[in-house]
Amino acid sequence: MGFQKGFLWGGAVAAHQLEGGFDKGGKGLSVADVMTAGAHGVPRRITDGIMPGENYPNHEAIDFYGRYKEDIALFAEMGFKCFRTSINWPRIFPNGDETVPNEEGLKFYDDMFDELLKHGIEPVITLSHFEMPYGLFKKYGGWRDRSVIDCFARYAETVFRRYKDKVKYWMTFNEINNQMNLKNPIFAWTNSGIQFKEGEDRKEVIYQAAHNELVASALAVKIGHGINPDFKIGCMVSFHPVYPFTSNPEDTLLALHTIHDRIFFTDVHCRGHYPAYALKEWEREGYDIKMEPGDAKILEEGTVDYIGFSYYMSDTVKSGAEGENKDLVTGSHVSVKNPFLQASDWGWAIDPVGLRNALIMLHERYEKPMFIVENGLGAVDVIEEDGNINDDYRINYLRSHIEQMEKAITHDGVELMGYTPWGCIDLVSFTTGEMKKRYGFIYVDKDNEGKGTLDRSKKKSFDWYKKVIESNGEIL
Ligand code: BG6
Repeated sequence: MGFQKGFLWGGAVAAHQLEGGFDKGGKGLSVADVMTAGAHGVPRRITDGIMPGENYPNHEAIDFYGRYKEDIALFAEMGFKCFRTSINWPRIFPNGDETVPNEEGLKFYDDMFDELLKHGIEPVITLSHFEMPYGLFKKYGGWRDRSVIDCFARYAETVFRRYKDKVKYWMTFNEINNQMNLKNPIFAWTNSGIQFKEGEDRKEVIYQAAHNELVASALAVKIGHGINPDFKIGCMVSFHPVYPFTSNPEDTLLALHTIHDRIFFTDVHCRGHYPAYALKEWEREGYDIKMEPGDAKILEEGTVDYIGFSYYMSDTVKSGAEGENKDLVTGSHVSVKNPFLQASDWGWAIDPVGLRNALIMLHERYEKPMFIVENGLGAVDVIEEDGNINDDYRINYLRSHIEQMEKAITHDGVELMGYTPWGCIDLVSFTTGEMKKRYGFIYVDKDNEGKGTLDRSKKKSFDWYKKVIESNGEIL
């Protein structure tokens, strides 16, 4: 039998992508609130505050803020053991640097967590999932400035204390490694509230922000364990295995080097110090990453309890392929299309075996428990004349990935805590801001222009996933 008793089957979302209520309950603006809608190949724009006439899809999202009881009842019907969401940081500290939290925001999460617990669903909570208070960008330029460490530590301590008896599983920064992708400005923005300035070395800026965040994350782990020693506090990275395109040793070397940008964060989160390849890069490039005495100790003492990661695709690299991949979102500058793999309508390579590769690699490198906190297929769903949505493509995608998880457990000996497919209810896409890029078991009636009743309905995958959970992964 593959999946352990108590395996955490569930679903994942992020506050800014489903809550809506962007100005309700005393909430301040987040970095996501100033992002316009884009589309596949049309980048989202970041505006200077909220501009009249623009379409900001996260403002209303799917109104989970007003409808969470109805939605949680549907999750319970599927048998969810856990539900991963984030706390919308500016609901708690509207500008980010207040000293007193917003009680109405805290109360919202109290009520929502109570509702989950009432149904026997364990909350799995990310502290920062692209929801940094916009005020911290305005005042400090985001994570460039280490003053933000104190703001984050205050926020983390506030919610750890408040929810210490309701939430056991936490993660610090969602997909903290996205920001190594310098091609699309939304990554530095959503991870770190950073807008680049003319002439600066972008990678150096990101390494500085990363240092501040890694210290903040380690501090949060220490603070959290002090408040409740039973807390399980993980990191969260976006993980793609990187394949060499050919057996040319140069391609293998390139793959090893390319993965450094992705694995750098896990290396520090899990081992508590900077890896040699990064220190050499800083030396080579002349990067001056500012640290304070005591930071190294915090990193060492604040290593994570588990590795949370998202898995959507693998990456393939080829020496000499600079510029061949024009895709703005995924891959490095030497990435190429993998001829063995199909891709989603949004160009994301579909690779179930890649998930097993990822599990093996992370397990062998860190020997820590792992939690797959995002995985799924963004697809266009069609409502048939009889009202059904027959999303067999989604079922096939998830089934093939769960099969690989099972093999990684039974054959390769990885320790897997749980699985929360992304966007268990349709929500606003992060990279494009679209509604039509759907991941859910539950359909939400809303289109890219923001029109629709917001009514919820079950897709075919709803009953399929219910059986998967009921049988603890035996019936796929
Ligand atoms: C991850 C994020 O990058 O992938 C989520 O953590 C995001 O916030 C998910 O929604 C899927 O990406 P997209 O662009 O299809 O919504």
